[in-house]
This record gives sequence, structure tokens and C-alpha cells, in this order.
Amino acid sequence: MPGARLIILATSGLAFVSLSVAADDPGRGEAVYKGTCIACHGGDGAGSLPGVPDLTEKAELLSQDDAILLRRMVEGFRSAGSPLEMPPRGGDPALTDADLKAVLKYMRREFQQTR
Ligand code: HEC
Repeated sequence: MPGARLIILATSGLAFVSLSVAADDPGRGEAVYKGTCIACHGGDGAGSLPGVPDLTEKAELLSQDDAILLRRMVEGFRSAGSPLEMPPRGGDPALTDADLKAVLKYMRREFQQTR
């Protein structure tokens, strides 16, 4: 019965997806950053376009509460007088909330100076 086999394949695929989201994959944040965020924020977090803050200098930006930063990543963000906006989900609607949490962890680890 080829129909039944297809259904089994589809459900095991779903189980795999939810498992991989639940696991805290340390490489995920880096992959998201290098795939999407790097275009504006640069490999070193210093920003590669006018209007993008230097996250290594302005350590206080990444020190804000997770809730604030995650909302800004999800909804997009433009501060007063800024020539460029941070696009919702970095411009990639396929990024999940878990992806954004992982990339926030990565950015803090890589760019935030301990003073
Ligand atoms: C099209 C360029 C662009 C891309 C792509 C982009 N950003 Fe941004 N991001 C910005 C700009 C511009 C700002 C500053 C906005 C402002 O202050 O008005 C910003 C600010 C931020 C901030 C600081 C927020 C704050 O409270 O000041 C964080 C965190 C951030 N981005 C994370 C990300 C992440 C994570 C990604 C990838 C998923 C990403 N950005 C992709 C342009 C971009």
C-alpha cells in the first residue's frame, strides 16, 4: 500500500524536525549569523553598512534583556535618526524563534567584551 508508506514517512519527518529544534545546537547560532546577519553586521560584529551599530563597541546593546532583543529581531527595529532599519528576522522569514535565540547567544559570545 504505497499511500500508507507515504504517511509514515511524513510523520517520521515531523518528529525529526521537532527533535532538532528542541536540541540546543551550538553550531546553529553561528550558521544563522553567517548565513543572514553577517551581510549587515559583518564577520566581526562591527557593522558593515552605515546605520549598523558596532556591537563590539556598544556592548550595552547586547546586554539588553532577551525579551527586548528577541522582539526587535522578530519585528524589526529602527531607532530615531537611524539611516537603516534592522529588518524583521534579519530579512529571512524562515528563521524560527529558536534560530534567533541561538544567534543571540552566538553574538553575545563572539562580540561582547567583558569589561
Ligand atoms: C539589512 C541589514 C541587517 C541585517 C541583514 C541584520 N541586521 Fe541587525 N541591525 C541592522 C541595523 C541597521 C540595526 C540598528 C537599527 C537602529 O538602531 O535603528 C541593527 C541592530 C541589531 C541589533 C541591536 C538591537 C538594539 O537594541 O540596538 C541586534 C541584536 C541585531 N541587529 C541582530 C541581528 C540578527 C540576529 C540578524 C540576523 C538574523 C540581523 N541583525 C540582521 C541591520 C541588519
